Amino acid sequence: MSLLIKNGRIITSTDDYVADIHVADETITAIGPELQVDDKSIEVIDASGKMVFPGFIDPHVHIYLPFMGTYAKDDYESASRAALVGGTTTLIEMCCPSRADDPIEAFELWKSKADGLASVDYSFHMGVTRFDAKIETQLRELVKRGLSSFKIFLAYQGAFGIDDEELFQILKLAKELGVIVTAHCENAIAVSQAQAELIAAGKTGPEYHEPSRPEIVETSGVQHLMTFAELTGAHVYVVHTSCEPAVQAIQAAQTRGVHAWIETVIPYLVLDDTYAQQPNFEGAKYVMSPPIRNIRNQEPLWNALRNRLISTVATDHAPFDFEDQKRMGADDFTKIPNGIPSVEDRINLLYTHGVATGKIDLNTFVDCGSTQAAKLFGLYPKKGTIAVGSDADLVIFDPDYSGKISADTQQMNVDYSGFEGWEIKGRPAIVTVRGKIQARDGQFVGTPGSGQFLAREPNHF
Ligand code: URP
Ligand code: ZN
Ligand code: ZN
Repeated sequence: MSLLIKNGRIITSTDDYVADIHVADETITAIGPELQVDDKSIEVIDASGKMVFPGFIDPHVHIYLPFMGTYAKDDYESASRAALVGGTTTLIEMCCPSRADDPIEAFELWKSKADGLASVDYSFHMGVTRFDAKIETQLRELVKRGLSSFKIFLAYQGAFGIDDEELFQILKLAKELGVIVTAHCENAIAVSQAQAELIAAGKTGPEYHEPSRPEIVETSGVQHLMTFAELTGAHVYVVHTSCEPAVQAIQAAQTRGVHAWIETVIPYLVLDDTYAQQPNFEGAKYVMSPPIRNIRNQEPLWNALRNRLISTVATDHAPFDFEDQKRMGADDFTKIPNGIPSVEDRINLLYTHGVATGKIDLNTFVDCGSTQAAKLFGLYPKKGTIAVGSDADLVIFDPDYSGKISADTQQMNVDYSGFEGWEIKGRPAIVTVRGKIQARDGQFVGTPGSGQFLAREPNHF
């Protein structure tokens, strides 16, 4: 498949210029003004008036997720469709075995869910939910198979959570192997104590989810991780950072020399805790962990993003139906499956609420939505930029589009949208994965199963 994209405004994390892009054999083969290509069968796309971004990368999603007594709703077919119409061409999923599971079997299971169904390219962060000599051997093997990042949880005691001895050993191994460790940071004991007190006091609604895991609980988890990262020298990436004190704790560690990076997720940038306070259990749609915070955190998060102190904006996409899954916690907020679906909406919301409002510039939009994820997780420059030799993962973006988000029209396989009726400005008009057009104007036009597993090399020595 050969493509010539003419006259687009090409925007990378550093550049902004008008040129043509020639794509052949899945990669970008030439970039320049007025390219002439001698190929009668070439498809020519006029991108005048449009922006051309590198395919966006979501470095934190859950697709196959056994969690809190149920399973996340998407499979790779629906999640890929949703990602692609929203401009995301690569997903990095959390492979989350339970403590009892065998890591290699878990990786094979998670990968089997994607192989043959995904129409985005994909990789996995390997969840390490227990650590002993046998697991260490298996992790070494998994790194050889292309998993160059681990995922740990300092929360969800009894499910995915690890203890401090395991934390220390996992970080030491990661440092030796050059693997970056992504981490969910909350103090698990503080959460379980607060949950028990609130439920005993009859405070059972979704509005009590945030008070059960306040900012200090997340910040304490972050500080704990930073201490262990400082002791071991491991490179760490704090996932779904929700609040200013947690950002400050990571920055304080960075100035001490800790190798730490910050991810936030789109819900924290555009929602606040009043959404989880809505009556008639509607608030359950907004229950995720760490919780959606008080609105005063939003400006510091946007500022940190603008200054590139926050590296990435992911989603933590974790779709659970409102009717028969979120309602499992109707009498007890601790039983509401945690998660908000947003893989389809991330880029449109980031553009609408970030770029169109002037909070971040276009280069930073590309940086936090694509380039940093590629660099941190060993995919750059194959992914994350527009350059000769890079994969032709491209988003031709129409900045003049305006429309609304609705569960009725979304591709995600979930019965609600946390952003129902919200206006969006701009959206992807054409999305390619390795040169193949996979989405046009909000519709999936690709081939399920055309996505590839991305084996990655360790790059955090
Ligand atoms: O609430 C959340 N974040 N659900 C997904 C699991 C996780 O902690 O990332
Ligand atoms: Zn998490
Ligand atoms: Zn997550």
